[in-house]
Amino acid sequence: MATGQTLSRMLPMTTHVCLLTLFTLSTAVPFNPKSLRADHSNHLLQYHHQQQQEALADVEEQLFPSLSQIKSTRNNINSLQQPQQQEATEAPVSYAGYKLFKTDVQEQLFPVVDSLDVEAGVEVWSCRKKGRSNHYEMDLLTPPHAVREVRQVFIESNVTYQEVIDDLQRAINMEGTTDEIIIWNRPAHPMTWHNYHTLDEMYQYMDYLAAEFPQLVTVEDIGMSFEKRPLRVAKVSTGGPEVKPTIFIDGGIHAREWVSPATALFILHRLVEFGWQEPQLLNRFDWIILPMVNPDGYVYTQKHDRLWRKSRSNLDSSPLCSGVDLNRNFAFKWSTGGSSPQPCSSVYGGPEPFSEPESRALRDILLKNKKQLKVYISLHAYSEMWLLPYAYTDAEKPDNYEDLYNVSVMGVETIRNTSGHDYRMGQAAELLYRASGNSMDYAHSIGIPFSFSLELRDKGKFGFILPKEEIEPTGREFFQAMKTVSEEVYQKLQATSTG
Ligand SMILES: *[C@@H]1O[C@H](CO)[C@@H](O)[C@H](O)[C@H]1NC(C)=O
Ligand SMILES: *[C@@H]1O[C@H](CO)[C@@H](O)[C@H](O)[C@H]1NC(C)=O
Ligand SMILES: *[C@@H]1O[C@H](CO)[C@@H](O)[C@H](O)[C@H]1NC(C)=O
Repeated sequence: MATGQTLSRMLPMTTHVCLLTLFTLSTAVPFNPKSLRADHSNHLLQYHHQQQQEALADVEEQLFPSLSQIKSTRNNINSLQQPQQQEATEAPVSYAGYKLFKTDVQEQLFPVVDSLDVEAGVEVWSCRKKGRSNHYEMDLLTPPHAVREVRQVFIESNVTYQEVIDDLQRAINMEGTTDEIIIWNRPAHPMTWHNYHTLDEMYQYMDYLAAEFPQLVTVEDIGMSFEKRPLRVAKVSTGGPEVKPTIFIDGGIHAREWVSPATALFILHRLVEFGWQEPQLLNRFDWIILPMVNPDGYVYTQKHDRLWRKSRSNLDSSPLCSGVDLNRNFAFKWSTGGSSPQPCSSVYGGPEPFSEPESRALRDILLKNKKQLKVYISLHAYSEMWLLPYAYTDAEKPDNYEDLYNVSVMGVETIRNTSGHDYRMGQAAELLYRASGNSMDYAHSIGIPFSFSLELRDKGKFGFILPKEEIEPTGREFFQAMKTVSEEVYQKLQATSTG
């Protein structure tokens, strides 16, 4: 059991989405990525960290004067600074005995969660604001040796909690078991909707569709990942003389959110193999599907660490920690909150906007199709939420927010009608947390009017380790929503072009 080892590796990359939001809101810590790039000596890093620590200390004083007995939040930042040892790639990380707790945490108890993180190696998996209250629903992954202590702290601090995963490794193992292959009825590709698949299998399926439906599907590699894996898109178009509005869907920008690429491919499957059932979808729109924005990260989650989130780049400026959060790397309000300048953080925004080949490739294909693109949807997991721009702030709304809102209402209603799942909807920064430099805000900023981001299933029962039985229902409910959304958008486009 590699528990101790796992712990020390997990600590520096802990997410703290809520905490990060809180602090970046209140501190204007100057950060100059150029200086870091020009000279990435420890000296500069130290200087920057020191500045940040001081600023954090001030904020902490203001926010939590009465909680000084709790270990200071600064410890957490210290742990972020300790460079992560580059791990050997052979041994997979074991999560045996790790438990997932769903908790209800009041904002003033954030430092308690933070201290659990620092001292017990607890990781914040997700943090969802509950309505307009100052309560947050937080999912906390707890290593085995800390379970007792964590329960104790919950009780002492009056945090209500529920144990939702008893043993994470068992859940991971169940996720990975493959069904028997029915040889006599195999199509010419390995894709199914009752298992998670490898990147190669996904790409094989895309190639299969292009070969089988050449009038309808074209497949193209739009770039290469850091580790030189292709970034493959499928374009679905019936052709014809007129230029159609286009809907763009991407998945897999965060490696561990496995249901996201699976759902993107399910949409592709429905559009291509069952498109004849829904002629409007293809008569009115062209579709571009990029199921895997972060192939390196995905492969890493399958081979080494199921819970990896970022890309796998190794930057000169941060030789000891790999990866950038690609969904914090876009050049719109980059690094203005809800992302981290620390390379070891799991929400590291990169040394500069578009520092990563994956985000650049996504940018380029969006720009190339900018005129036709009317809808952009980025698929994430989990929490069951339909998110509207902006994610970088909740203090400002896009001009067409009402249109976005009305379309989302219909999408969410369709999901509810289809499966009974109740997706919450609202502005991303308000409902979830601030996240600057994300792809949805960027897509909207370049003029794609209907830009959304979805958090797919579930609501924290399994979290990232969504059982494979839920892949198809997740795909179905989202496909139904896409039918409604495309209808609504079509009506709105008609209204503006004639009115
Ligand atoms: C927890 O609740 C009990 C009873 O309501 C109260 O006496 C105690 O002070 C609370 N503790 C904290 C840390 O809020
Ligand atoms: C949005 O929906 C509301 C309620 O149906 C309606 O009153 C409003 O005009 C709609 N707004 C837009 C921009 O379509
Ligand atoms: C959902 O179901 C209700 C009740 O059957 C219906 O009135 C409504 O139009 C449906 N909404 C959508 C978006 O299909």
